[in-house]
Amino acid sequence: MLNSPLIIAPSLLAADFSRLAEAADAVADSADWLHVDVMDNHFVPNLTVGPPVVRSLKAVARLPLDCHLMIENPKRWAVGYAEVGAYNVSFHAEATDDPVTIAKDLRAAGSRAGLALDRDTPVERYLDLLPQFDVLLIMTIKAGFGGQAFLPEMLDKVRTARRHAKAGHLELRIEVDGGVSADTIEAAAAAGADAFVAGTAVYGAHDPAAAARHLRKLASGSAG
Ligand code: DX5
Ligand code: ZN
Repeated sequence: MLNSPLIIAPSLLAADFSRLAEAADAVADSADWLHVDVMDNHFVPNLTVGPPVVRSLKAVARLPLDCHLMIENPKRWAVGYAEVGAYNVSFHAEATDDPVTIAKDLRAAGSRAGLALDRDTPVERYLDLLPQFDVLLIMTIKAGFGGQAFLPEMLDKVRTARRHAKAGHLELRIEVDGGVSADTIEAAAAAGADAFVAGTAVYGAHDPAAAARHLRKLASGSAG
């Protein structure tokens, strides 16, 4: 479903880490990307997985891997995720003063490049960089942990970015991440998001595949 108008990206952060292959399989026919949250306990106060786990996931997952790096020094690390097979690598604007070079390196290594903005980072100063990116990830929580409440005021950033992308005819995925659920996805889609990360709402559900399908239906109905 690589060319779906809308991307549903279940976040493995809410899955059982001893059963990542099964978690990937559970949504392989109902979602588009698998979202992998990489945390280093420096950029955020939480610690998750690194390139060896992404490499192993790549070998078993049928969906493209969408790696979200919540780490310091992405210039040193980001390309490694492309090299182990990530489809997209998003890194945080707050963690670097040279996002464009990292984006070029990622594209040269064969992956898409994503720029992620945490809750307190305004979008305006990054608008001119967007042609260098395939994905703009807008956090709709403070980065670090799953299961937090969606912050609707973040949608102003989504609207601003979507307007800018439309005006410049950019092919840009605008991805929202954090607290995305059946209660919040329609507002995000209406604001102009076209990729939706959902951890708890997918893997916290009895039937993750059905939950992903339901989210897609709601988002499609509200796409602006
Ligand atoms: C948090 C991560 C999110 C997280 C979302 O920093 O970037 O991807 O998994 O989890 P939910 O959907 O539960 O808010
Ligand atoms: Zn994430």
